[in-house]
Amino acid sequence: MLTVNHVSKTYSGKVAYRALEDVSFDVKDGEYVGIMGPSGSGKTTLLNIMSTIDSPTSGTVQLDGEIPHALNEKQLASFRAKKLGFVFQNFQLLDTLTVEENMVLPLTLDGSHSISEMQDRVWQLADKLGIREILNNRIYELSGGQIQRTAIGRALIHKPKLLLADEPTGNLDSRATTDVMELLHKMNKEEQTTILMVTHDPVVSSYCDRILFIKDGQLFNELYKGEHRESFYQNIVQVLSLMGGDNRDLSSVRLP
Ligand SMILES: Nc1ncnc2c1ncn2[C@@H]1O[C@H](COP(=O)(O)OP(=O)(O)OP(=O)(O)O)[C@@H](O)[C@H]1O
Ligand SMILES: [Mg+2]
Repeated sequence: MLTVNHVSKTYSGKVAYRALEDVSFDVKDGEYVGIMGPSGSGKTTLLNIMSTIDSPTSGTVQLDGEIPHALNEKQLASFRAKKLGFVFQNFQLLDTLTVEENMVLPLTLDGSHSISEMQDRVWQLADKLGIREILNNRIYELSGGQIQRTAIGRALIHKPKLLLADEPTGNLDSRATTDVMELLHKMNKEEQTTILMVTHDPVVSSYCDRILFIKDGQLFNELYKGEHRESFYQNIVQVLSLMGGDNRDLSSVRLP
């Protein structure tokens, strides 16, 4: 579904900075992949390239049979609208609109869905997300966890092939974090959404099928889940400590 092939990214500026160096990996249809690594290691850069917000300096990305960076602007807009969903840390929801209005926004922009079709999808998704009761609330009235679930709802409303999430639990308390990760797990299993998620939290990443570790812009290691989430979690913590860098989350590790 996704092939990242020898991707490098150099930011040009006063001093050129090589943020990614020769990164290659594949993601299968329906896989749930976590991306971990110290601050500044290139995780967001990688996600931005896969989401086509940014392009690689060299190398290619193939996504669902297309090479998005080779598409023209119009083709790219339609490719994104149909196949990709995003959850970023600054959720980019419209504060004065309601939860429901924010959720249907991608569908109304697309223009090819009837109102009843949109309504059905909103209700179905809102049930799964546990936000049916707050559909008519405005964003500024919500808690952090509710906002995050709304952002996930909006990212999934058009049934994207690939969901890209950059620290979707970044500023949530542990209760809301548990809700969001169980939700992503459920969406992955029930809707076969392929997910790529950046996280610093080893508990959150232990819900993934596989973790890619990035250090200094290069792939450092890869772990598969195996039989038990507990041992997966222990292995993740071990790779993180091997990797060094910022261990800000290891000092406050919660038991899974
Ligand atoms: N637009 C840019 N121009 C120049 N350098 C950049 C730009 N964006 C990121 N960088 C640099 O590239 C490196 C990788 O940044 P990136 O945002 O990908 O890190 P990250 O792994 O997401 O870190 P964090 O965990 O803190 O979010 C950093 O050293 C950063 O300073
Ligand atoms: Mg980042």
